[in-house]
Amino acid sequence: MSYSITLIPGDGIGPEIVDATRQVLEATGIEIEWLEASAGLSALESHGDPLPESTLEAVKSTDATLKGPTATAKGTGFRSVNVAMRQKLELYANYRPARSLPGVKTRFEDVDLVVIRENTEGLYSGLEHTVVPGVVESLRVITTKASRRIAKFAFETARRQGRSRVTCVHKANILKLSDGLFLDCCHDIAKDFTDIEFDDCIVDAAAMKLVSNPHTFDVMVMENLFGDILSDLTSGLVGGLGVTPSANVGDGMAIFEAVHGTAPDIAGQGLANPTALILSGILMLRFLGEKEAADRIEQAVHTVLEAGQIRTGDLGGTSSTVQYTEAVIAALGPAN
Ligand code: NAI
Repeated sequence: MSYSITLIPGDGIGPEIVDATRQVLEATGIEIEWLEASAGLSALESHGDPLPESTLEAVKSTDATLKGPTATAKGTGFRSVNVAMRQKLELYANYRPARSLPGVKTRFEDVDLVVIRENTEGLYSGLEHTVVPGVVESLRVITTKASRRIAKFAFETARRQGRSRVTCVHKANILKLSDGLFLDCCHDIAKDFTDIEFDDCIVDAAAMKLVSNPHTFDVMVMENLFGDILSDLTSGLVGGLGVTPSANVGDGMAIFEAVHGTAPDIAGQGLANPTALILSGILMLRFLGEKEAADRIEQAVHTVLEAGQIRTGDLGGTSSTVQYTEAVIAALGPAN
């Protein structure tokens, strides 16, 4: 079977890790027709628009999308391309697993949890205005529709992956109306999943528990901002941003990308760790039903990391992106 995949190189280290991931995916022998599309600063330069309509059309018309990170200026400039894409395409669920990797030493062993972040509303709704000079309002929108949809996604993920518990992370003690609604929706959806345990945790306590005992959690579901922050935290539990994948999922459509950004401090130097995007590529293969190829790549990444001789700077090594990519390809077992 042949797939058509939109490929968005993005900015900063994006083109380096996208190229590495593309090579690894192609080395499995799976037939992929790549449709290159631009987004971010590079698209602003080439198309005069950070998110050209042609890119959105490409994402809609292909089987899946593999995306490099895209840059967003702080405080000024165009709106985040990531937030805009997720909203325009209704990619409502951000799936961010955090799993310990062989050979990557961290404070905790055997971490295996999933952060599920609502991807379309909350404080990222883009509703900000200056009331009077010196006073700014940002609206945090929580709706029943989006809250029920993300809660259902969390429970379905737990069931599909044989996980036992979903925890709703919130701040409903203070944000009584908005997070109260989010929590109520989670409670309500939980009634349809009696095989999965359900509990809730206030976001500040969740942050403390994650850094003291991450094994307390299984699937965590939360609104946009909490998910953005806590998923970087959970990334730190398993080796950092260089090794954490993600998927933005809607109905019948998905964009796979690393959790990290454009890493401007190391861009263009061949130092980036492509593991996070390679693992995102594995999520993409599973989404497409290519389990065997996904397992082969996962095994190859584990083999290279466990051997420990070839690793990038973020994991304490001295290897380049290219050397690491070549090692992963060399470790790919033969197709059955
Ligand atoms: P960042 O994730 O780009 O970098 C944070 C730190 O992690 C840096 O020290 C960087 O070198 C390191 N790092 C990240 N990925 C790495 C990798 N694969 N290998 C080795 N080291 C890696 O976060 P930062 O600096 O806050 O953001 C930079 C830009 O990225 C901003 O414009 C931001 O808006 C954008 N961004 C884009 C995202 C996306 O497209 N999904 C997500 C997060 C940020």
